[in-house]
Amino acid sequence: MQLTRHRLVLDIRSATLALSLIVAGPLTLMAANPTVPTLTIDASKSVATITPRLYGLMTEEINHSYDGGLYGELLQNRAFMDDAQTPRHWSLVQSEGAEATIALDRDRPRSEQQPVSLRLDVTAASSGHPAGVANDGYWGIPVRSRTRYTAKFYARANAGFSGSVTLAIQSEDGKTVYAKAQVAQLTDQWRSYTATLSTGKVVPTAKARFVLTVDRPGSVWLNYVSLFPPTWKNRPNGLRPDLMQALVDMKPGFLRFPGGNYLEGNTIAERFDWKKTLGPPEDRPGHPCPWGYRSTDGMGLLEFLYWCEDMGAEPLLAVYAGYSLNGEHVTAGPALTPYVQEALDEIEYVIGDKNTKWGAVRIRDGHPKPFPLHYVEIGNEDNFDKSGSYDGRYAQFHDAIKAKYPQLKLIASTGKEHVPSRKPDVVDEHNYSSAATLVEISPNHFEGYERKGSPEVFVGEWAAYEDIAPWDQGSHALPPTPSMKAALGDAAWMTGIERNADLVVMQCYAPLLANVNPGGRQWRPNMIGYDALTTFGSPSYYAFQMFSRNHGDEVLKATLTDATLRSSVTRDSRTGVITVKLVNPQPTPAAVKIVIPGVASLAPAMTAITLAADPTDTNAIDTPKKVVPVTTKAPNIKSGGVYTLPAYSITVLNMKP
Ligand code: AHR
Repeated sequence: MQLTRHRLVLDIRSATLALSLIVAGPLTLMAANPTVPTLTIDASKSVATITPRLYGLMTEEINHSYDGGLYGELLQNRAFMDDAQTPRHWSLVQSEGAEATIALDRDRPRSEQQPVSLRLDVTAASSGHPAGVANDGYWGIPVRSRTRYTAKFYARANAGFSGSVTLAIQSEDGKTVYAKAQVAQLTDQWRSYTATLSTGKVVPTAKARFVLTVDRPGSVWLNYVSLFPPTWKNRPNGLRPDLMQALVDMKPGFLRFPGGNYLEGNTIAERFDWKKTLGPPEDRPGHPCPWGYRSTDGMGLLEFLYWCEDMGAEPLLAVYAGYSLNGEHVTAGPALTPYVQEALDEIEYVIGDKNTKWGAVRIRDGHPKPFPLHYVEIGNEDNFDKSGSYDGRYAQFHDAIKAKYPQLKLIASTGKEHVPSRKPDVVDEHNYSSAATLVEISPNHFEGYERKGSPEVFVGEWAAYEDIAPWDQGSHALPPTPSMKAALGDAAWMTGIERNADLVVMQCYAPLLANVNPGGRQWRPNMIGYDALTTFGSPSYYAFQMFSRNHGDEVLKATLTDATLRSSVTRDSRTGVITVKLVNPQPTPAAVKIVIPGVASLAPAMTAITLAADPTDTNAIDTPKKVVPVTTKAPNIKSGGVYTLPAYSITVLNMKP
């Protein structure tokens, strides 16, 4: 043991000053010192069970989470429906000597669902002097070395046109061609064409565009023009691999989808209408999303379910409950019956067998096995429905779903006071608060809840923001992802959730994803940021990951004699590993004596995972790993050892008695 220095601990909550001794090294034995705070762990019994679903993900189309994010599609406005007047994100390509015009066209549509085509009229073009159209992607097209891109599009030409179409991924100025392909002669009938474009060795860049050109005069109509890079598990219409890896690394137990506000839509007509999201993507109409842009619905119900399956997470399905963001609601009773039926059909799609109508549709769509659904949420944030209609609407959904699927647990989208006529299995309570607030409330918040006869709690959306709330104007000027200051609030909040796992059965941070390009996001803070090429986790991402990857299945009672620190203690009943989580939101290191009465020694394989940084530090596209957890082997100790928590830190200690 070696005493190195003294420190002053400023208790920000009580504003008292305490003096204590710190020992050097991460974990050392310490002479009896009454001023060192003690964490006393009662390992004799567990006080609550942690389900494998405690840590999950929440998702919706916001911040270009799917289109321009997780969904693999690289071309923006592939169906030409983003704007009724102009072919947004498409531009004319005219090489020297070529002449052409482009316009949206609604004549002779290819399909009812995607009725708009892009008409290209070429009056002058020749071999070596082509004319065509370019798409600028979602803030660029990601070009990577030795990568195969799959293009698909529908086209027709004027009768007598005998040309082919050249596809290319090229630099924004067209001077560098990264990959190229050609498709055979067009006809005057709509037909689909596919092609593979392969890059060689390139310096990765997103300063690229996708072009389709012809080399002779004529008229060409294009519809549903799509370009995919390789996807996670090579699923067609699949997901972006680096983002999926970041999500899989969180080991989520469930995925709450499809929203959020995205479930509700601005109007009833703009709700997430799941039946319109099935089938080939070129037959999905898409719809306006409430966050200010149009969704392709390429991420449809089946894609959400595959997403769950590929992460090893359960679906937590939110069904539309007859309330939309503009305040419209459907009154409970006969008017609501079709919406209840929509929800029943949706559940049947997820879990029905081949003898059910919608189970058979899922099988036709390619997934014979039912998905493992246990929880269904009725609506989203229905506390905002000031008409008071939620109680009646919830009851109608509750009765119909319970009658058909008694095994499902139902979640009310708001506190139990809004649903007095039924007892939901679970209530979803959202919490977006400042980091300071979450640090402050975390020791007592869920401890104060009535247990007896109450529904379980799902914290279906939560996040700490540093100082400026997401809905305040000033938040737009801040970076899209949070700093270490917020992560400290997140971690403190999660210690409270873990300690109360008997009540809080599931939780997920929101929003999960954000395209960080200017104009890409509508909300902050967001857990994971990305542009076309790079993905990074914020400090909040790593804080969450430290919790979601390090918890056992039982909560141990523990007492900490320091009001400035936050803690939770769990154990894995199969391995016996005890996990201690400690949050030090203070500007100075803090020593904690860890005492486990009855446990004389700990196995040498103890690890410490630490996330420590200045509160203003954060990660970004250019500095994606500035704030990351560090894992160290911590030496064997006896019960009574002292661990020093760095200033502004989150620590996870895994120890085996
Ligand atoms: O997470 C962003 C939004 O916050 C969600 O869409 C909504 O449910 C909540 O108000």
